[in-house]
Amino acid sequence: MRFRSIRGTAVTAALCVAMSAQLTQPVLAAPEKSGEPRYSAGSASVGDPYFPNQGNGGFDVQHYDIAFSYDPATKHMDATTTITALATQDMDQFNLDFQGPEISALSVGKHPADFRRDGQELIVTPRPKVKVGETFTVTVKYAGTPPVITDPDGSIEGWVPTDDGAFVAGEPQGAPSWFPGSDHPTDKATFTFHATVPEGLTAVGNGQLLSKTTKDGRTTFVWDSTEPMATYLATVTIGNFQVNETKTSAGIPVYTAVDPRLVSQSAATVARIPEIVDYLSSVFGPYPFASTGAIVDRAPNVGYALETQTKPIFSSSPSLGTMVHELAHQWYGDSVSPTRWSDIWLNEGFATYSQWLWTEHTGGITAQQTFNNSSNYGRAATSAFWQTITADPGPVDMFGSVPYNRGAMTLHALRGKVGDAVFFPLIKGWAAERKFGNASTRDFIAYAEKTSGMDLTNFFDVWIFQKGKPTTW
Ligand code: TRP
Ligand code: ZN
Repeated sequence: MRFRSIRGTAVTAALCVAMSAQLTQPVLAAPEKSGEPRYSAGSASVGDPYFPNQGNGGFDVQHYDIAFSYDPATKHMDATTTITALATQDMDQFNLDFQGPEISALSVGKHPADFRRDGQELIVTPRPKVKVGETFTVTVKYAGTPPVITDPDGSIEGWVPTDDGAFVAGEPQGAPSWFPGSDHPTDKATFTFHATVPEGLTAVGNGQLLSKTTKDGRTTFVWDSTEPMATYLATVTIGNFQVNETKTSAGIPVYTAVDPRLVSQSAATVARIPEIVDYLSSVFGPYPFASTGAIVDRAPNVGYALETQTKPIFSSSPSLGTMVHELAHQWYGDSVSPTRWSDIWLNEGFATYSQWLWTEHTGGITAQQTFNNSSNYGRAATSAFWQTITADPGPVDMFGSVPYNRGAMTLHALRGKVGDAVFFPLIKGWAAERKFGNASTRDFIAYAEKTSGMDLTNFFDVWIFQKGKPTTW
């Protein structure tokens, strides 16, 4: 789904197509003069240099329906994923991204289709062929153990088994471990999950819980993620969980699931979610989604947290700062997602800066003091830290300290440059203008220049495009 909004107002699907045609690349191929379809293969990737296999061309995913049963004892998954997509060209072949277990059947609409697999690429030959403008479904049945994926920096993601279930995280390339799709942040879609697990365990997905039914010793959880979501933000995490439901003061439902072994350590932080969401809403604008919450799991081999949409996931008991960080990502990262992975500082810089603001808001050191400290501007000019380019850190360092800390420093320096009276409306306006969409570094610069009325070429040059410790800006 290529979903954009104007001044925070959701637009219709038809208008979306027209708008993205105008604002990004044409979505629908021009009709042939003769009116005869001209079939070709959809592209195998969107061409993101950090992950060249990610995403696909020729169609735009609208919805994923992912139904599976999983048994932690055997690590066996039995799954059927149905993708609803809009064809953006006449296609005699298209690709999906998939690294999951063996496929037993695949159909396009009602018709079984030929397919082959080549690494992450699942290559499908639909018959009848698919015409531009057609909404079609792809149903993939598969079973086995989903693989753990290793990232360029050595960390793990995808479907990660734990001692009582599975920790499921997909940034930047783990989603194809457990469902086929178009795995790039520019192809957002809505999701429904039907997860069946042994009775007693809880399966926690993005969005709202529609139903929970137990039969013959197994419980099915149905979760509905009603706003567009990038594939990397999808989760259905399984385990023994203590569940709690409450609401923020604005009435947003809060669903938390905490591993019983981590309840005493994490209770104080988890209890502050409503207060954090309220505070962040006051700075960033209305919370973008229909619900919020958190999943606190025990996955010691993962070691990081992820801003999974509506319910960030933690692989151990989170600090208050990490909780603030992941909730801030709901605005910056989840609702407004990067156009390319090189834009990751827009995610991590905002989430880190939100921690600085929270610390000041709750009576700790000021954002200026955090800016100055030895993890940030206080680092020596000779430090290797200053040698990574913020707006292009590369796949190995995309979750290193530079997109986080230099990204946050960039935002604080921008605040100093344009003044509070421009900066705070700017970051709110950015979240509203790009709600449920994507944005690049260039888009952010253009927005900051428009909002401030200033030429910020040199500012962004020294902060995000050049190496070296900035001295004047
Ligand atoms: N985006 C996550 C955060 O900032 C961190 C993260 C996601 C990560 N995937 C990763 C860190 C892979 C290291 C490796 O909270
Ligand atoms: Zn982050």
